[in-house]
Amino acid sequence: MNWKFPSLLVCVLLPLSVAASVADTAPDIASLRAKYLRTDPIPYPDDDPYSAAKAKLGHTLFFDPIFSASGTISCASCHKPDRGWEDGLPLAVGDARHSLKLKTPTLLDDAWLDRLGWDGRFHSLEQVTFAPIVANGNMDMSEVGVETRLASIPQYVQDFSAAFGDAAITRKRIEMAMATYERSIVSTEAPFDRWVEGDDNAINASAKRGFAIFNGKGRCNECHSGWAFTDGSFHDIGVAKDDDIGRGRLFPTSVKLRHAFKTPTLRDVTLRAPYMHDGSVPTLEAVIDLYDKGGVDRPSRAEVIKPLHLSGQEKADLLAFLQTLTGKPQHVDAPTPPR
Ligand code: HEC
Ligand code: HEC
Repeated sequence: MNWKFPSLLVCVLLPLSVAASVADTAPDIASLRAKYLRTDPIPYPDDDPYSAAKAKLGHTLFFDPIFSASGTISCASCHKPDRGWEDGLPLAVGDARHSLKLKTPTLLDDAWLDRLGWDGRFHSLEQVTFAPIVANGNMDMSEVGVETRLASIPQYVQDFSAAFGDAAITRKRIEMAMATYERSIVSTEAPFDRWVEGDDNAINASAKRGFAIFNGKGRCNECHSGWAFTDGSFHDIGVAKDDDIGRGRLFPTSVKLRHAFKTPTLRDVTLRAPYMHDGSVPTLEAVIDLYDKGGVDRPSRAEVIKPLHLSGQEKADLLAFLQTLTGKPQHVDAPTPPR
């Protein structure tokens, strides 16, 4: 009678061990899904807390071409709300109609990032504000020039008083108002979010397989992590060439930061072609092909970037997944500049 006991054990344990080995290789979709739940409220810094008056003023300033020398381009000329807060150009074009060296990045969900710019040299939204304004080839203005222009407009004098308690129009106040507005630039609910929240039909079977590849074979989640799909960090994915060294300029002795750029969010990614810091990749299909090949093999390239050997179906699934990250269209008013 003893023989029955081990065979029973085998019957029970064999399927269990098979199940365990499958779980080791295939990601556990339910627990992965939970990692992408949006929870955090917009963070505002202690030295620039939210106020409705500041946000409203910042919104008006963001859309006002008064910040460019020619008076024709505003922040919103490059960061366009209906293009995922980018401009659809491979390289940004400034006030003098010359191309800059970088593509306009999205502003979506920037409130959660503590390093901004493709190379991360800015530490806050406040700090970014005057960089495009005074940059040669971008808006071509001076700090005093901007303050003088704004102070000549009675409506602005009133709006600065409402936001800050008195009528002084200073660089710091402009930065605070713009940044308060920019923190409200948050991605909207996408089909992917509805799926994460439990609606199993919100995305199709191909996109669900793509999600598994994103978090498994593709290892995309190692950098595009969490609900905003970014680790806020800098990597060489094997795209940039020659002296285009990104964050390497700030850390010349670091091997890994050579050619490293900020991991962009993948929110609204379908609205934001062309892709990468240099706009060199025209479509999402081409982005996936690039990761499939693994980019240029060199010492700076991130460890996780290597040829993926994806099948045609796997590439299609990954694309279907990326397409579920585009949120409901957001309607953003473009206020008429006060004059
Ligand atoms: C000519 C197009 C253009 C204009 C106008 C422009 N930007 Fe940008 N913006 C860019 C480019 C290009 C970058 C990337 C710069 C870099 O990485 O060094 C950028 C980067 C940024 C970033 C950092 C985003 C991130 O996630 O890293 C912020 C914030 C920003 N701009 C806000 C503004 C504001 C505010 C204004 C108006 C005062 C403005 N921009 C005007 C093209 C533009
Ligand atoms: C080692 C970190 C890392 C991994 C892994 C990674 N990415 Fe990226 N991703 C980045 C960085 C950094 C950039 C920006 C590079 C640049 O501009 O030169 C980027 C850019 C992109 C872009 C373009 C976004 C834009 O706004 O221009 C897409 C789309 C993208 N990645 C998707 C993926 C997919 C899909 C995978 C998995 C197959 C993946 N990434 C794996 C770091 C990573």
